[in-house]
Amino acid sequence: PLSSRVKSLIAQMTIEEKAGQLTLMPTPWTSAAAAKINPEAALRNIENLTGDAQAGRLGGVFNGFGVEAHRKLQTAAMKGRLGIPMIFAGDVIHGYRTVFPVPLGEAASFDPDLAERTARAAAEEMAATGFDWVFAPMVDIGRDARWGRTVEGAGEDVLLSSDMARARTRGFQGRSLADDASVAACMKHFVAYGAAESGLDYNTADISERTLREVYLPPFQAAVDAGCATVMAAFEDIAGRPIHGGREFLTDILRGEMGFDGLVVGDYNGDVEIAARGLAADARDAARIAIMAGLDMSMASGIYRDHLPSLVQAGEVPMERVDEAVGRVLALKERLGLFEDPFRRMDLKRQQVRMRTKPTLSLAREAAQRSIVMLKNDGDLLPLPRKGKRIAIIGPFAEGPSNLHGPWTLFADNKEAVDLASAVRSAVSDASFISVVKGSEVTVPIDGGIDAAVAAARAADIVILAVGEREAMSGEGASRDLIVVPAPQQALAEAVATVGKPIIVALRNGRALALEGAILDAPAILVTWFLGSETGNAVADILFGATGPSGRLPVSFPISAGQVPYYYAHRRPGRPTNARYIGSKKYEARFPFGHGLTYGKISYADLVMSSKQIPKDGSLRVTVTVKNDGKYAARELVQLYVQDVVASVTQPIRELKAYKHVDLPPNRSQQVTFDLTAADFAFLGVDLKPVVEIGKFKLWVAPSAEAEGLAGEFEVS
Ligand code: IFM
Repeated sequence: PLSSRVKSLIAQMTIEEKAGQLTLMPTPWTSAAAAKINPEAALRNIENLTGDAQAGRLGGVFNGFGVEAHRKLQTAAMKGRLGIPMIFAGDVIHGYRTVFPVPLGEAASFDPDLAERTARAAAEEMAATGFDWVFAPMVDIGRDARWGRTVEGAGEDVLLSSDMARARTRGFQGRSLADDASVAACMKHFVAYGAAESGLDYNTADISERTLREVYLPPFQAAVDAGCATVMAAFEDIAGRPIHGGREFLTDILRGEMGFDGLVVGDYNGDVEIAARGLAADARDAARIAIMAGLDMSMASGIYRDHLPSLVQAGEVPMERVDEAVGRVLALKERLGLFEDPFRRMDLKRQQVRMRTKPTLSLAREAAQRSIVMLKNDGDLLPLPRKGKRIAIIGPFAEGPSNLHGPWTLFADNKEAVDLASAVRSAVSDASFISVVKGSEVTVPIDGGIDAAVAAARAADIVILAVGEREAMSGEGASRDLIVVPAPQQALAEAVATVGKPIIVALRNGRALALEGAILDAPAILVTWFLGSETGNAVADILFGATGPSGRLPVSFPISAGQVPYYYAHRRPGRPTNARYIGSKKYEARFPFGHGLTYGKISYADLVMSSKQIPKDGSLRVTVTVKNDGKYAARELVQLYVQDVVASVTQPIRELKAYKHVDLPPNRSQQVTFDLTAADFAFLGVDLKPVVEIGKFKLWVAPSAEAEGLAGEFEVS
């Protein structure tokens, strides 16, 4: 129910003012860097926005920079006829000034608590510069690695993505939205944005209702259940129905079924693009379709401001629908405490003292360490000694401030991030043992050419090959047709490998990659994603064993790029031995979901199930003993997968049902317990309603989705 304040404001507003409240506009500069380079020009540039704010033609802006600009706009809004505060939104996807690992990387921690803490820290920084609203978490499942936005989500798995969605929502919103360190979260992009055909951003999607409900909706439901205040509509259409204009999505499913009662905002011009898709005759018609579908607030296009007044006058849009949407915008502002104090998040002092604090940077380092996945470590090449080895760091990502943060870090300063070479130099006892051959471009990966790299490898005992993707190769509008390491870098790796020195590959990547040749054959491979502010330190911590690797792949790395989209939880084929590509033995990943090595020697034993027969409303306790026979401590992620053997709908090969970390010092073992209920074995039946069907189930406790691990069977009866 709306408060009396909100009701009274709506009663006083003209239709033009209402349409203004439903309008969210970008600031005229594209990055904080641009605003910083010329702050006066940036402030001048917001003149037309201040005019609109004062005239009641603007509900809020996004991606503005700094307290000064935000104060200027808010002051103008408060001078307006009704003195309604504006709302300030920002794309703070994985950190503001302190940058945390890209969400896909952080998902490798399999640690929702960590994700909650980094989201909280990001909220604290952004809220200190005047932001009230974050366009995150991105909770889209990413099963097609070509899609550049897989980098922003938690990967391919429904359970992990749901856990991360819940955690990040909680972190951003804190205990109360009125807290000056909290921001309203925005789960995005509703829904199935990641299902874009061919992994091409903005492309059409065509998925079954079953897949929509089984795979794509659950992370949104988790965020709704965690109280997520807002949601952003997705750019794509599903089977010809654009989300921005689809009442079945934005109203029937989202509100009717999922119980969401917050604000629905459009994505950038996504509403006016209904016309470009051929579903509306023009922008006015697109505005009518969008608002009637349930899109409350329009982003960037301005079509609500331009057309809602005439649509209401013509009786094409009922005033009640406009009032409902305005009520949601005002209620959000009220929850954020903006009516009490419109400037509550705009404090120059806080802007300085809350940035890059020691605890936040140490959290960034912890998160970065925990995101690193060790794919291989043949002959225990890692960890490296800090003394006595000449190390050559070679590749475009060896040194320098670029490509550390990853996409969507508009407010951070590259120069504040720690690169690999600097961190390695300070980690070893004699920095003169470190040589660096770097490059800045992917097409010319190395300064001095491949010869310089080969010479450096010859002069070294060990090579660290820093190769992979530039940050511009993932994120919005950055899809790739082939998910391989770019050819010039592959050529570099092949040349360096001919020298015969042990190679550690430190991959920089925003998606799953199909690794090949010398990169795949290197004895040690670390997946380091884009780790943010503390990139170099975290990688060096793992390289030299200050801490062990504990990350696990949240996305499967396929054998070849042609397998994409590949995800472990694919349905069982009728001919499992024949359903494979020519030349391969099995349809499987090179490095499956859940894979990741530690410095320990881990083994699993003694799988015990509390019962082999569970009633439909019963529960199952599974215990297993995990042992570390190695000489290093290890943090092992123990994973429990299930397969419903006979069901009325073909079920996935395996599905992750539970996971737990266990910290094991050398020569220690520990029992790990999982408690499941029969409801954990439910799926959507033929009628698309959840059902637990009686019959046989297989269960695995394993170190990855495709490892045999320990297997058992039970029956639901
Ligand atoms: O929040 C983003 C969204 O994820 C993609 N399009 C632009 C929006 C605002 O910058």
